[in-house]
Amino acid sequence: MLFETIHQKVKGVAYISDLNARYLYELIIREKLTNILELGVAHGTATCYMAAALDEIGGGQITSVDLLERETLFDPSPEGQLADAGLSHLVRIVRMQTGYTWFLHDEIKRLTINDVCGSEYDLCLIDGPKNWTIDGCAFFLVDKILKVNGWIIFDDYLWTYGPHREATDGITHRNLSEEERVTPQIREVFELLVKQHPHYSEFVLSRDTNWAIARKRASDKKTYTIEYRQTNKDVLVAAKDRVKRLLGMKFKY
Ligand SMILES: C[S@@+](CC[C@H](N)C(=O)[O-])C[C@H]1O[C@@H](n2cnc3c(N)ncnc32)[C@H](O)[C@@H]1O
Repeated sequence: MLFETIHQKVKGVAYISDLNARYLYELIIREKLTNILELGVAHGTATCYMAAALDEIGGGQITSVDLLERETLFDPSPEGQLADAGLSHLVRIVRMQTGYTWFLHDEIKRLTINDVCGSEYDLCLIDGPKNWTIDGCAFFLVDKILKVNGWIIFDDYLWTYGPHREATDGITHRNLSEEERVTPQIREVFELLVKQHPHYSEFVLSRDTNWAIARKRASDKKTYTIEYRQTNKDVLVAAKDRVKRLLGMKFKY
């Protein structure tokens, strides 16, 4: 399915910007990434873009994981958006009681034979609670099941636990130290865990779309590229999206 076709169907639904959606879609097609893991689904908008890319390259499988307690929260639902786009057959949605770290436990167990864990995924999009403990742990777990040459994308590189709400994904803001509240925790995961990990050598930070990307390739030579992808028009559209999202949160969370 062409990018423009899926874009017409899901545009305006949170939580992926047009720029990141296009990047993701083109990456999947260019690198032929057919086995994809998505951690954090919400409305399934990113899922739809990824499924459209798989459809374009002749098929594949996306496994998308979210929390059981969020099953009825998102309107439109991921199942609804995928069905409307005719892409449901490419996606398995899994909802877990305590979240994706336990899903990753199950996957490592499934893929372990004689004490060796096999790798199965080409791409993992980590877009959940944006939390040092959960996402730091998720990174090490994902690494075990990610193929060599595979990709990990982190959303929300600069996100912080701000004053705009009481709690995010089970973490009560007032229980955090001031330092934990103001420090972008995905940035810490990326800078302190991912970039230093011996399996990874190629890193891209898209500063203005808040995505940090790592490629699983072992090498002594590490490259770190900082990109700016937005035009002035993109900045205006993103600001409008953010306002819509904040207004939506006020009513939904
Ligand atoms: C920003 S949304 C994901 C957006 C989606 N990837 C997209 O771009 O369309 C974050 C999602 O992560 C989920 N989430 C938060 N903590 C989680 C956890 N520990 N395990 C699984 N899902 C979690 C939330 O329920 C929410 O649906």
